[in-house]
Amino acid sequence: AIDPNFEENREQVDTHEGHDVWGPVDEPEKLGIHGTHVAVDFDICIADGACVEDCPVDVFEWVDTPDHPESELKADPANESQCIDCMLCVDVCPVDAIDVDAG
Ligand code: SF4
Ligand code: F3S
Ligand code: ZN
Repeated sequence: AIDPNFEENREQVDTHEGHDVWGPVDEPEKLGIHGTHVAVDFDICIADGACVEDCPVDVFEWVDTPDHPESELKADPANESQCIDCMLCVDVCPVDAIDVDAG
């Protein structure tokens, strides 16, 4: 499962489409965590798609991640500022790849 304390335990190493990327990143095998308020551990995501389908405000967009060992698509929190903290994505992800900091 995603580490809910990733902000303390990891370093921000990059940004992507306006959100933070938390390392370590070593493409294509290690992609880190994307997002901060809505955080997706790309190294855990298996592209199940429940989060993409169920988010009521369309926070997630698919990105291609060729040659990643778990899946070649990831749910990117491209619109994390739109999040309404409903926690649906956290509940439906079968591999607990998402953390939402509802404060
Ligand atoms: Fe979307 Fe709700 Fe998840 Fe926020 S908590 S990203 S609104 S499903
Ligand atoms: Fe990935 Fe979980 Fe969404 S596996 S696509 S973060 S439901
Ligand atoms: Zn991203």
